[in-house]
Amino acid sequence: MFNKNKTRLVNLTKMTKDAHANKYAIPHINTNNLEWIGAILDSAQANKSPIIIGVSEGAAKYQFGFKNLVDMVNNVMEYKNITVPVSLHLDHGSYEGAINALEAGFPSVMFDGSHYSIEENIEKTKEILKLAKKHNASVEAEVGAIGGEEDGVVGNGDVADPKECKMIADLGVSILAAGIGNVHGLYHKDWKGLKFDVLTEINALLAGTPLVLHGGTGIPEDQIKKAISLGVSKINVNTECQIAFAEATRKYIEEKKDLDTAKKGFDPRKLLKPGTDAIRQTVTEKIILFGSKDKA
Ligand code: 13P
Repeated sequence: MFNKNKTRLVNLTKMTKDAHANKYAIPHINTNNLEWIGAILDSAQANKSPIIIGVSEGAAKYQFGFKNLVDMVNNVMEYKNITVPVSLHLDHGSYEGAINALEAGFPSVMFDGSHYSIEENIEKTKEILKLAKKHNASVEAEVGAIGGEEDGVVGNGDVADPKECKMIADLGVSILAAGIGNVHGLYHKDWKGLKFDVLTEINALLAGTPLVLHGGTGIPEDQIKKAISLGVSKINVNTECQIAFAEATRKYIEEKKDLDTAKKGFDPRKLLKPGTDAIRQTVTEKIILFGSKDKA
């Protein structure tokens, strides 16, 4: 049976602090299944990048629970001899979800209290911090809901109040997500871009707490780089890997390779390979863009 004390996973405090001090960002890539976990780890190892594997509560259910995820990532790391720092992080956790993930051995959780009043967000974040401390785990908090929908968690796309960000950061969270006009999923063609004036103000007020940029899919490269220069040290990407996977799988099927019985093109290991390669490629592009290559 897996022993929590022997985990290969690390919390994300040190990796994001180093990234903040040296102006690069760690990719947080959401996982959806075993192929994702293998592809993310391969890419991080090949590029010598620290990496954060993100899991929403919905994706955790799909992958048979928090405990299974902790075991899977640990086992794949051992099998592939992964030596770069890897964190497993609950994405947009509810209060109960964050507690359950910590107890199952997650080294890092996000408690998304952005839909509560600031007072309640503070109280609940404090409770999660207390429990996380016992497990030597890191905590991400959120102020100002991220727009769009992430696995059933719907945000209004608020812009965070910098003073509220400071109140939450002062509780001692490792990292803070602040809404700055970013949304999950694809950006609308009329999207006005990230609100750099707000980001500048938050970064100056926080003086040291690394910031998180959610909704990494579709943000133009110059805006990504500017956000990193203004204190963003973790960038979350999910949709882009899903699209890359779906497009590569579609191509395989449209080329009727699954119908090639002589080559057993219907074998899931063959059917899922182009999609898995596409995830690996997408993660590599993010590592290079975010500047985390060779930082492990
Ligand atoms: P995207 O799906 O837009 O890349 O956002 C991912 C994310 O922010 C996960 O928390």
